Amino acid sequence: MAKKDKKPLPLLENITITGIAAEGKAIAKLDNLVIFIPFVVPGDVVDLQLTRKKNSYAEARAVRFHQYSAQRAEASCEHYGVCGGCKWQILPYTEQIRYKQQQVTDNLTRIGKIPLPEITPILGSEKTVFYRNKLEFTFSNKRWMTEEEIKSGEEFRDMNALGFHIPGMFDKVLDIKKCWLQDDISNKIRLEIKKFCIENDYTFFDLRNQHGLMRNIIIRTSTSGEVMLIVVFYEDDKTKQQALLSHISGKFPEITSLLYILNQKANDTITDREVLVFKGNDCIFEEMEGLKFKIGPKSFYQTNSEQAYNLYKIARDFAGLTGNERVYDLYTGTGTIANFVARQSKQVIGIEYVPEAIEDAKINSEINGINNTLFYAGDMKDILNPDFINQQGRPDVIITDPPRAGMHDDVIEAILFAEPERIVYVSCNPATQARDLNLLGEKYRVEKIQPVDMFPHTHHVENVVLLRKRY
Ligand SMILES: C[S@@+](CC[C@H](N)C(=O)[O-])C[C@H]1O[C@@H](n2cnc3c(N)ncnc32)[C@H](O)[C@@H]1O
Repeated sequence: MAKKDKKPLPLLENITITGIAAEGKAIAKLDNLVIFIPFVVPGDVVDLQLTRKKNSYAEARAVRFHQYSAQRAEASCEHYGVCGGCKWQILPYTEQIRYKQQQVTDNLTRIGKIPLPEITPILGSEKTVFYRNKLEFTFSNKRWMTEEEIKSGEEFRDMNALGFHIPGMFDKVLDIKKCWLQDDISNKIRLEIKKFCIENDYTFFDLRNQHGLMRNIIIRTSTSGEVMLIVVFYEDDKTKQQALLSHISGKFPEITSLLYILNQKANDTITDREVLVFKGNDCIFEEMEGLKFKIGPKSFYQTNSEQAYNLYKIARDFAGLTGNERVYDLYTGTGTIANFVARQSKQVIGIEYVPEAIEDAKINSEINGINNTLFYAGDMKDILNPDFINQQGRPDVIITDPPRAGMHDDVIEAILFAEPERIVYVSCNPATQARDLNLLGEKYRVEKIQPVDMFPHTHHVENVVLLRKRY
C-alpha cells in the first residue's frame, strides 16, 4: 500500500512568547496547545513554523520576528543560534538567574510537595563568560553549512571543521571561530591546531565512515594558570602526530601538560585509552583554600572552578561541622567535597562508582596531608547498606551530590536507616532532587535552600538543600 503523504505542519502567525520552559526553550500557548521554541524569549512576537505536533504539545521554530521583547539582550557570540550551547545569551543575566530561581521554586513545590522554608536568592556567577575549565572540540570533514552559505549557491571547498557537534546531528560539526566559554588561550590553541592541520594536509575525521587522522582535542585550564591539551588521533601516523605536537608545544609555552591518545574505537570516550605524555606533566592542579586537587586527563572536576568553590562553601556551611562529626560524602567523584570538609570533621567517608576517581580522591587526601578520609568504589545502592553503615559507624552528617537522575530508592532507604542529624543535598537537577526530598520527608524537614548558578547562559541550575532530622 502506498504511504499517505504527510500533511505539512501549519505556520502560526503573530504568536507571543510567554514563558521559559525546560532545556533552555521558551513557550507559547495557543488554545490548549503548548508550543516549545528555541532561541526566543518571553515578549517576542513571532511567526512559528511547527516542526512536530502531538495532542497536547508541539515544537516549533521562529521563522519571522514581528517584535523583539524589551527583555532581550544582544548575544555576544557569533555562533549563537547555530551552536547548541549558551542558549540563554539573549536573556540579560539578571533574567537568567530569575528564571533559574523560579525553576527551583516550581520543582520543589510541585514535585516535592513538602513544607519549604523561604528559598534564598540564587548565587549568581561572577564570571558570565570564560567560566569553564574544560572544553572538548571535534574534528570533522563535514562542516555544518550556514543557511546563508547554502543559499549563496557557491561551492565551498573547505569542508573541514574543528568545533562543536550540531545538536542531534552526530556527523555535523560547527567550525568554531571564538568560543566565549573558556579562557581565550583555548581559542588560540584550537585555531592554531586547525591552521597547522590544514596547511599540512592532515585529514579531519569522517565521523560517518570512520577515517581520518585528527579526531578530537580536549583543553583543560586551572585557576592556578596551568593548561592541559589532549590531542586525540584516529590514525596512527606517528610522524604527523609528532610534527603537530612539537609545533603546538613550541607555539604555546603556557601548556604545562601536553598529552595525546590514539583512539580507533567507534566512540569518542577516552576512559579506556592509554594517555601518552608528549611534554610536561600528566596532570594539572586546582587549588582551594590552600588545598590542591589533582586533575588527570580522565578525572571529573566541576567545570566552573570559581563557582564550585562557592558551592562547596555553602555545602560545608550547611553541614554545620564542629570537628566532631563523621561525614559521609556520597557520589564523591575525585573526593573534592570530602577533602574540602575533612579539616572540619572527625572522619569523612566518600563513596563513588568510578574506581579511577576513587584513586584520585585518595591521592588528593595524600598530597594535602589529610588522613581522616576513607574512600570506597562501587555502585551507591550496593555499597551504602545497613551492614556498611553499622561497620563504618553511623554518620552525623551526609553530603550527597548525585548525578542528574538523583538517588536510587535503595540509597534513600539506606539514608533513612542511617538517620544522620543533617543531610546536605547538592543537586544539578531540581526535579529529581524534589522527588528525593519528598521521600526523605518521612524523617526530615527542609531547613535551608540555596540555588547556585554554575553555568551562565544555559538553563542549568545547581541547588543546595539542608535537611534536619525531625524529632
Ligand atoms: C555530580 S557528580 C559529583 C561529583 C563530586 N561531588 C564533585 O563535586 O566533584 C556525581 C558523581 O556520582 C557518580 N555516580 C553516578 N552514579 C553513581 C552510582 N550509582 N553510584 C556511585 N556513584 C555514582 C559519578 O561518577 C560522579 O562522579
